[in-house]
Order: sequence, then structure tokens, then C-alpha cells
Amino acid sequence: MLTFHMDYFTQKNDQWRVEDVSLKSIAEDIHTPCYIYSQTALINAWNAFHTAFKEYPHQINYAVKANSNLAVLNVLSSLNSGFDIVSGGELFRVLKANGNPEKIIFSGVGKTTAELKAALEANIGCFNVESLAELLRLNTVAIQLKKMAPIALRINPNVDPKSHPYISTGLEENKFGIPIFEAIEHYKQAATLPGIKIKGLAFHIGSQVTSLAPFLEALDKIIALIEKLKAIGIIIPQLNVGGGLGVRYQDETPPTPEEYVTAILSKLNNSDLTIHIEPGRAIVANAGVLLTRVEYIKKQGSKDKYFAVVDAAMNDLIRPTLYGAWQDIIPVNPGALHQVPERLFDIVGPVCETGDFLGKDRMLSIQEGDLLMIASAGAYGFSMSSNYNSRPRAAEVMVHQNAYQVVRTRETLADLVKGERIP
Ligand code: LLP
Repeated sequence: MLTFHMDYFTQKNDQWRVEDVSLKSIAEDIHTPCYIYSQTALINAWNAFHTAFKEYPHQINYAVKANSNLAVLNVLSSLNSGFDIVSGGELFRVLKANGNPEKIIFSGVGKTTAELKAALEANIGCFNVESLAELLRLNTVAIQLKKMAPIALRINPNVDPKSHPYISTGLEENKFGIPIFEAIEHYKQAATLPGIKIKGLAFHIGSQVTSLAPFLEALDKIIALIEKLKAIGIIIPQLNVGGGLGVRYQDETPPTPEEYVTAILSKLNNSDLTIHIEPGRAIVANAGVLLTRVEYIKKQGSKDKYFAVVDAAMNDLIRPTLYGAWQDIIPVNPGALHQVPERLFDIVGPVCETGDFLGKDRMLSIQEGDLLMIASAGAYGFSMSSNYNSRPRAAEVMVHQNAYQVVRTRETLADLVKGERIP
């Protein structure tokens, strides 16, 4: 049997703790629903990538979209992390969290002129350019600002990451990147543009990738391309291999950060490329849970099947319904455990959609008022949450050793209508 995959969430004497703080005590103070992150888990996950590189020149650009809370960003910036951003909003957050602008990489297919300008003015480290049209626009904006824009072209290597179709990005039918067969032409053009400075080459094949093979297949193609570019005098100093390393939610056995980094480095014998990576999920997913309370238990239909209606919903955590994602659901109430027989449950929220579920077909011993934790919710949890059904967004809490802090207060009813006006 696999052991529980969240190292800093442990059960002792029927008490679930994150680091040295009981989840029950946080729920009593902050109420539910609420996201809880372990600072030590974050730091250790980041360090696992960093130490795997040993002396090899590298930069870890945490993918901000996975969890963009300022406290999370600040913990990583204090480790001297870089950041992968995809919007002007993420740029604003990273700068506010004390991130080093020179270590910011700007990805994404639809950067607006205003976003390009803001990033140039902040002197970010690199634009990962995804089309010829974007390259030309960036060149124009940079010339207007009397700057040179540092760029990598994001190349689409046409490799199947064998992940969910919504989060596969490196196939030629996806909207991302420049097709690999057009790469040389685009680099030749980039080299002629006065507002553009070629810094590197980037690719990203998808997310929740659980084997090394797709990364290595893409790397082979990209390394061959870098050789061809060199032969025509275009030198690529840095190679960004993207993010996408998967994590365990249930019984997946993805490569560890060390195995992943070692495999990448093994392809680069004697090269002088600086390697950039953009992990998001592998740093935060298993550093966080969503805590929720059972409001009602109801039985529906003739089958021996129950619904646990909880106070978190698809607006708080959309992954189960959007991708059919499985995340563990665990009762955390000391004392309440085992008082009732195990029954088969769908765990659902109060939102008025049948698609509002957090987990299906779970055997659980739970009753009204019990606390549940939804595991592996640190990545793409809060950051994808919304106000659907006019539900204020959840609070977020960061735990470090035996102390915790609210790092985002629960939204209020006034927050819900902020900016709205009756004419
Ligand atoms: N770099 C780029 C260019 C990306 O598009 C992404 C993720 C990453 C890095 C980080 O990937 P990661 O290491 O986190 O796999 N909402 C989905 C995941 C969407 C990923 C989008 N791009 C989910 O909840 O599964």
C-alpha cells in the first residue's frame, strides 16, 4: 500500500496536524471553507529541485498560476526563486511579494501591449514569445521604450505528454508556441530585430506529466534544433524546459524532482546551456489542503448511496468537475472518527449544478458537522476559485512549525459587490 503523500500533514492520536498545528483548531478559529498551506512543505519541494541541479547553472521559475498568494510567492522569493508569469496581474503579484524582476519569465499566447510594456518597464528577465505576431509587437514596444526585450521563442515540439487533454500544450494542434518546423525562420527574423535580444529557447509540453519519456522525447528534438541554430550562428544561452512534472494525488508514481532534473541533465553532456524549469504543481500541490465541514447528510434514490453536502463547492475547487480529477477526502475530526458506520458518499457542495462535486463514491464514516480535508489542493485550488453563486472566496492560511497566519482573509459580502453600481 502507498503511504500518504503529504509529508507535512500527519495523523497522531486521531488528530490531524499540519506541521505542529491541529487542523481542527484552525477550523475553529478561521471557520471553513479554508485553504491551509505548509510553509515547510513548500520550501522542501523547491529545494528538492534546486539541490538536484548540484553545481549545474540553472534557474527555477515557479509557475505563479498554480498558487499566487503573496505569502506563497514571498516564501519562494526568499529562497531566491525565479517566477514564471502569464499576465500583468501575476507580474504585479510577484513584484509585490518581493520577487526579483530579473528572474521573471513571461509566458502566454496573448500578452497585450499594456502587459508587454509593464514587463519591459519592470526589466523582467525573459519573454517567452509564442508567435511571430507577438515578436513583432514586442519589438515595436521595446523600441518605443528605448529598450531591448530579452526573449526566448517558445517552441511547440509536437510531443504527447499523455495527460488530460485540457492541460496538454505541446501538441501541434494546441494553441501554444511556434511549430518546431518554423523555429529556424523565426529565430533568423528575431536576430534582425533591433528591439529584440535572443536569450534562449523555451518549451512546455503540458501539466501533471507522470513519466519522464515525454520530457526526454521533447528534449531530443529541441537539442537537435539548438545545434542547427548554432550552425547558422544563432547561439542559445538558456534552455527553458517548462513545467509539468506531475504529483501523486492517488496512486500515481511520478518521477521525483531529483529523477526529473537528473534525466534532463543527462541529455546535456558538456553543453554550456543554462537550464530553466517552470514547476508549479510539483512545488505547491501537496503543500496544501482545503478544509471543509459537512453541513448535511442526505440519501437520494433507492441505492445505498449518500450525499455529504459540505460548505466548500466547485467555486472553491474546480479540478474535480473540470478535469474529473481525483483528490483524497479525509475526515479530520478527532473523536468523531468511527462513531458511524462507513457508507458510500458523493461529496458535493451547495452550488446549483449537478457538476458541483468534490469527490464521488468515497467510503467514509462521517456525520453532520464533521470536518473533512481535501488533499493535494495547494495547486490550482484557490487560484482557480471564483465567486459563482455569489459565494465569498475562502480564507487562506499558512502554517509554519507551531504557528499559523491568515494570509488571505475570507471575502465578505461587501467584497462580492465591490465595483458594482446600480445606474
Ligand atoms: N509553464 C507553462 C508555460 C505553463 O503553461 C504551466 C502550466 C506551467 C509552467 C506549470 O505547470 P505545472 O508544473 O504546474 O504542471 N489547472 C490545471 C493545470 C493547468 C496548467 C497550465 N499551465 C490543473 O488543475 O490540473
